Amino acid sequence: MSHSPTRYWEYLRLQQLLGLQHGLSEERELSNDEVLFITVHQIDELWFKLILRELEEVRDVFARPHVPEQELGSAVRGLRRVAILFQQVGNHFALMETMTTRDYLAFRDKLSPASGFQSVQMREMEVLMGLESSRRVALGYEGSYRDALKGPGGSPTWSTKRLDRRLEDLPTLKDAIDEWLHRTPIMGKRPGEAGADEALARFAAAYLAQHGRECDRTAAFSMHDGLHEEDRTRITERYAKERVNAAAFLRAEDLEEGPERARRARIRAALLFIESYRELPLLAWPREVVETVVALEQASLIFRQRHARMVERVIGRRTGTGGSAGVDYLDKTALRYRVFDDFWTVRTLLLREAALPPLEDAAFYGLVADG
Ligand code: HEM
Repeated sequence: MSHSPTRYWEYLRLQQLLGLQHGLSEERELSNDEVLFITVHQIDELWFKLILRELEEVRDVFARPHVPEQELGSAVRGLRRVAILFQQVGNHFALMETMTTRDYLAFRDKLSPASGFQSVQMREMEVLMGLESSRRVALGYEGSYRDALKGPGGSPTWSTKRLDRRLEDLPTLKDAIDEWLHRTPIMGKRPGEAGADEALARFAAAYLAQHGRECDRTAAFSMHDGLHEEDRTRITERYAKERVNAAAFLRAEDLEEGPERARRARIRAALLFIESYRELPLLAWPREVVETVVALEQASLIFRQRHARMVERVIGRRTGTGGSAGVDYLDKTALRYRVFDDFWTVRTLLLREAALPPLEDAAFYGLVADG
């Protein structure tokens, strides 16, 4: 049976796609600036769509009770893809900057009070990644980020429905990855196994002792002859604080005493363990996971930063169409909207290889002794 050959424009739905850049009127009535504005937003929303698909798939891998080694490879590829997608969106802001303030003001009133603040896919990405609600920056009068998506009289919309579905779709990527990290064998012992808590305590104590020595060592390097007494005191205090912070972090003292604190302490130790003994064969994929999670969050923060700088260039520090403080609001999100804090903090504690505490049970991790 013969069928008509597939055509490029049909497969890609080009007729429909190219007919979507008209905003609220006919495309021929719009300036090139406005069509650019609409098109870049649409392309970015398509990148957001791809990010959501990848994040979901990666989350599903980590949500499994046991994650096979080969699955970690595809999870890393997904995370890497998300990082690149965020970079792409960030790069598009340069196109927005080809528009002068006056060019933009010529059509800005048409979209007001709409705003990127109403991008449900942005909120879905945050929710799926696991951004805590307490981190959110209030926009002002709206109250909650969900309210901004409601219809007239607070009625549900396509956006609120999508967001609500996403809020129910658990676990978040962060929770799934944390659960996986929690199972990491530390000094050859998995949680729940006989001697696991002791092995963890030994690792943390040995690490902190080495960390203290390294702080003293680096502090000594900083004490050159030209320093004033106040400079010396400042440097000494700074290193003392690093030690206190390192211990408080590894013991999860920021959480109330109890099972949650113990769980967080193990997760943080696992991150430190993976990063410290990264050359061990069994840790080859886990260390790639840690690396790409950091790359992903870095890319998303740079995207937020880049957006803020573009906005400052195009509209200065005026109030946003969504009613926020504009650039000030965006800069706050770029500082606060982090999900994987522990992954970053571990970098402050990491030691050079020669200073690491000796590894127990190296054979468990696939390291074969020479000879
Ligand atoms: C001339 C171009 C642009 C200007 C002047 C601009 C301005 C703003 C401002 C002032 C806000 C803060 C909320 C408000 O009060 O409105 C905002 C939010 C946002 N914009 Fe833009 N924007 C531009 C282009 C873009 C583009 C191309 C994207 C790509 C999708 C985008 C995505 C977003 C998102 C996702 C938010 C919400 C951020 C958050 O709440 O975390 N914007 N924008």
